[in-house]
Amino acid sequence: MGKGIFITGTGTDVGKTFVTALIVKKLRDAGKNAGYYKAAISGAEKAEDGTLLPGDALYVNKVAGIGESVENLVSYSYYEAVSPHLAARINNQQIDFYKIRADYQRALEKYELLTVEGSGGIICPLRWDDKQHVIIDDMVSQLKLGAIVIADAGLGTINSAVLTLEHLYIRHIPCRGVILNNWHPGNLMEEDNLRMIEELTGVKVIAKVEPGATELDIDPEFLASLYA
Ligand SMILES: Nc1ncnc2c1ncn2[C@@H]1O[C@H](COP(=O)(O)OP(=O)(O)OP(=O)(O)O)[C@@H](O)[C@H]1O
Ligand SMILES: [Mg+2]
Repeated sequence: MGKGIFITGTGTDVGKTFVTALIVKKLRDAGKNAGYYKAAISGAEKAEDGTLLPGDALYVNKVAGIGESVENLVSYSYYEAVSPHLAARINNQQIDFYKIRADYQRALEKYELLTVEGSGGIICPLRWDDKQHVIIDDMVSQLKLGAIVIADAGLGTINSAVLTLEHLYIRHIPCRGVILNNWHPGNLMEEDNLRMIEELTGVKVIAKVEPGATELDIDPEFLASLYA
């Protein structure tokens, strides 16, 4: 049975997919059997034949060279670029947590190190109807995953990163580290952002990712040790 980690971010579009691809690539380049899973993607493109293309999964699959088939990478894909709970409601195709758990377990049987990308930030509703209320942090708790937080390196990140880390803390979700994206070496404010996040939360920044990076600057053995 493999080990997993959850990749969340301070919000949507912060670079979860971009950084996840570099994480999985780093592990695979070091000879590890690393895979990817995402429970729900919204804003998927439509192919000519009408099938939905879950861009995040296809991107990581390609960049990291996983070679997995789409249906094993993502449980739910929606066309509408809205929160999964709303996309599900619009399409009358509600997210079933038991399917997510089964798909996740199946992926864990196949991969030694499974990286699970979240949707949006840590408060992202997956299902909100009269039968079930499921937010993404509930899913992370249920799957007993630790988390890595992707945050932008720039202005505003102290607030959004610390709030995200505090939320993980109150939900008893272990945080394995922060990765700062769009990092510009030598930038005074970004250096200070890093220091402030570490000092306010006690959580370490484990990597910094520059614009257009093709490699994650981290020891693959250390990275692998964060999975549980
Ligand atoms: N370090 C980087 N260098 C260059 N482009 C980047 C970098 N980080 C993110 N991007 C680009 O920014 C956009 C948003 O990033 P990404 O898709 O990874 O965000 P996300 O957090 O996964 O979003 P979502 O919530 O939709 O899953 C993408 O076009 C991505 O290629
Ligand atoms: Mg993404």
